[in-house]
Amino acid sequence: MTRQARASAAAEMPGCLGEGQESGVLGDGQVGRAHGAALGGHQRLLGPFDVQAEPGVRRHLHAATLPTLEMSKAWNLYKGFDNSGGMHEQTSVSDDLRGKTVLLTGATQGMGRHLARLLAARGATLLLHGRDRERLAAVADEVRQSAPDAPVRTYAADLADLEQVRTLADAVLAAEPRLDVLVNNAAVGGGSAPNVRETSSQGHELRFAVNHLAPYVLTRRLLPLLAASAPSRVVNVASMGQAPIDFDNVMLEHDYEGVHAYCRSKLALIMASFDLAAEVAQHKVTANVLHPAHLMDTYMLQQSGFTPAASLDDGAQPTLRLIVDPKAEGITGRYFDRFDDRPAHPQAYDAQARARLAALTTELTASFTA
Ligand SMILES: NC(=O)c1ccc[n+]([C@@H]2O[C@H](COP(=O)([O-])OP(=O)(O)OC[C@H]3O[C@@H](n4cnc5c(N)ncnc54)[C@H](OP(=O)(O)O)[C@@H]3O)[C@@H](O)[C@H]2O)c1
Repeated sequence: MTRQARASAAAEMPGCLGEGQESGVLGDGQVGRAHGAALGGHQRLLGPFDVQAEPGVRRHLHAATLPTLEMSKAWNLYKGFDNSGGMHEQTSVSDDLRGKTVLLTGATQGMGRHLARLLAARGATLLLHGRDRERLAAVADEVRQSAPDAPVRTYAADLADLEQVRTLADAVLAAEPRLDVLVNNAAVGGGSAPNVRETSSQGHELRFAVNHLAPYVLTRRLLPLLAASAPSRVVNVASMGQAPIDFDNVMLEHDYEGVHAYCRSKLALIMASFDLAAEVAQHKVTANVLHPAHLMDTYMLQQSGFTPAASLDDGAQPTLRLIVDPKAEGITGRYFDRFDDRPAHPQAYDAQARARLAALTTELTASFTA
């Protein structure tokens, strides 16, 4: 599919997909300003894999909640997309992670499980997280078999409970001498019952809790170890499915829909990543966030009834690049659509919205980050 055809297809997509994400409402030259804003005035770090947005087709997308069938149809437009990463450079197999410690959440299935094997093959000391101890042990065995020399340790926690997130972080702090990369990959998708609103142990809307509050608490608690191991990286796995936060209905107590809740939680994660990047730059810790691939064939996708259009490796490769690529050193506060540096949803660059989300997140997590 040509770039123009791709942009036109993207223009049709309603719901979660924010303006300017795929082909650039912002257009050439404006991406820099957007990222400058994301970094809160910090120096914009240009790297060798800097890619400007294509001059864009303006898209008129709405964040309105749609019936799930409509959402499915819209998302299935991705089927025609090129998932290969095509002309963009991929991470070379020679990238060496020996001596580096990587904590990967959500390693028990899907992209995380695949990524675990790729990281082990590069010699990383792997800290694998999962919520189910049996599945976690099985993945650790699988990884050890594929890379017998890679040290693998496991950490169990249900991210729907911030108490467990705190315990997880403290266990890592107590046991691990260093942490070079934190990959916040675990997430809950739209779910199989799109109209059934679920909540976390603390009573927060579940997708907002698992996909935004949990990585926030985990990252905050691990910052001292990341800073002590600097240069170090935080890689947050978000999605190009992004919906703006309605601050009058943050917990989606009305107008709930599962995919919308997922998309909104992913935009919250992106906004928090930008704030984090600005905060930790002085400690030589970078924070980037990405959409790994369109419609990978994983549990969350199957559960929501979408038709798969990409492999696990399609998503793992751009994620791996942010983890290992030496050229990513010093690049921070960016949103990548697979391999491309792109603008996220416009709300991610709205200083007022970012400040409101940051204040709310601080308030909701205060007893778990202190
Ligand atoms: N699939 C796609 O097309 C797509 C597109 C864009 C972005 N992404 C993102 O890619 C990342 C990986 O997703 P995936 O597609 O590989 O999904 P997946 O196969 O459903 O894997 C999700 C992982 O998150 C874990 N998880 C979910 N809820 C948890 C909780 N409460 N506590 C602890 N762990 C929990 C799961 O653990 P269990 O094994 O215990 O369930 C699993 O390991 C996610 O951040 C997702 O949002 C995916």
